[in-house]
Amino acid sequence: MDIFRKKDVDVLLAEAGAKSLKKTLNGVDLILLGIGCIIGTGIFVLTGVAAAKYAGPALMLSFVLSGAACTFAALAYAELAAMVPIAGSAYTYSYAALGEFVAWIVGWNLILEYTVGASTVAVGWSGYVVGLLKSGGITLPKEFTSVPMDGGMVNVPAVLIILFLTWLLVLGTKESATLNRILVIIKLAAVFIFIALAGPKVNVANWDPFMPFGFSGVATGAAIVFFAYIGFDAVATAAEECKNPNKDLPMGIVGSLVICTALYIIVAAILTGVVPYKELNSPEPVALALRYIGYNIGSALVGTGALCGITTVCLVLMFGQSRIFFAMSRDGLIPSGICEVHPKYGTPYKITIVAGIGCAILAGLLPIGILAELTNIGTLFAFVVAGIGVLALRNTAPDLPRPFRCPAINIIAPLASLSCGYLMYMLPVETWIRFGVWSLIGIAIYFFYGYNHSHMNKLTGKANINQ
Ligand code: ALA
Repeated sequence: MDIFRKKDVDVLLAEAGAKSLKKTLNGVDLILLGIGCIIGTGIFVLTGVAAAKYAGPALMLSFVLSGAACTFAALAYAELAAMVPIAGSAYTYSYAALGEFVAWIVGWNLILEYTVGASTVAVGWSGYVVGLLKSGGITLPKEFTSVPMDGGMVNVPAVLIILFLTWLLVLGTKESATLNRILVIIKLAAVFIFIALAGPKVNVANWDPFMPFGFSGVATGAAIVFFAYIGFDAVATAAEECKNPNKDLPMGIVGSLVICTALYIIVAAILTGVVPYKELNSPEPVALALRYIGYNIGSALVGTGALCGITTVCLVLMFGQSRIFFAMSRDGLIPSGICEVHPKYGTPYKITIVAGIGCAILAGLLPIGILAELTNIGTLFAFVVAGIGVLALRNTAPDLPRPFRCPAINIIAPLASLSCGYLMYMLPVETWIRFGVWSLIGIAIYFFYGYNHSHMNKLTGKANINQ
């Protein structure tokens, strides 16, 4: 049994060439795509609980820590993405660098990133809808807006948004570059309006005590707000559609990350400077902060912008999950039947509907904290592996053309794995247990199904990937 059989990078490149998606995106498109995927529930929702329960005003440091881990991971990712510009991101790279079993585990965890991530984002969406309606005088009953663990029954708005987006995806609605640009502008406008209105009202007394829960609180806060950065890797999944992946891809990945990190630090500083951190545990902290200082219309405006922003992130994550499933079914690791394309709409409707129902159940029944932490641990694991993978490929395939070379690879790649590993370590033990159970299910599926059905299995000794 050879569970570490590797896919040849040349074979991957041939697949990329054979499939040949239209190459239409440039560096700026990628930065916008990145921001489109990144700014969402993390900054608009999770900042509240992270400040109130873990980091206090030092939340800005949590963003610095998490942003640094993501920057290291992004550089490693960018080298892999430019070298193997093919859909499937960390899953595909791991297949080439570390072999099938590791790739499967990474892909399995990317499902957490995208599917559970979409559920998390939907719960954030629900928080803003409920808040906006409440500001307009409509109070929805708690039973239908919160989950059993929070004293409700089911989070209906979160379920509805997932089902609506599933329907759009089945019909073939993909975010067009134009729509993405508009939504990114609305989203950025919401952030800038917040900064402009609340910035001057910062009361530095609120930053004292700065680190009420000590450094471990800051680090746990970083592990939670890591969610706010998820999405920069989605830029790497667009590698096949890049005009000039060598230049555009690193620019898109690192550029969007740098812009978002700067905005996050500013928003965290203002949020905790305006509202005492203990009062920030709200499903819509950014809107709350504006109401707190008397800007009710500003609050509604920012809330609406946040809602638009969060919707696009949810759609991108749900779209991304179908890409990952596709890449895995193309390799035979999951049954290709479930990725069947709809005869009329041309979309992978079966997997979209199944995953959509799964997302809706999670979003309807679980609190945002559990969902976000589970998403984070899965994603961080994929980044730990990406750090190892980029180094492994430098050693096993040193002569392959590398359009983008990660600077100081011997420092950056280990730092990527270590810093992401550290953030994983800071997540609560319950999250580790859930992650363990998820991984065991994945391993069982691999040994009972994936190993035998893998195309690598059929192709042993043959170089033709088209069989
Ligand atoms: N980074 C994305 C968000 O915060 C997933 O919603």
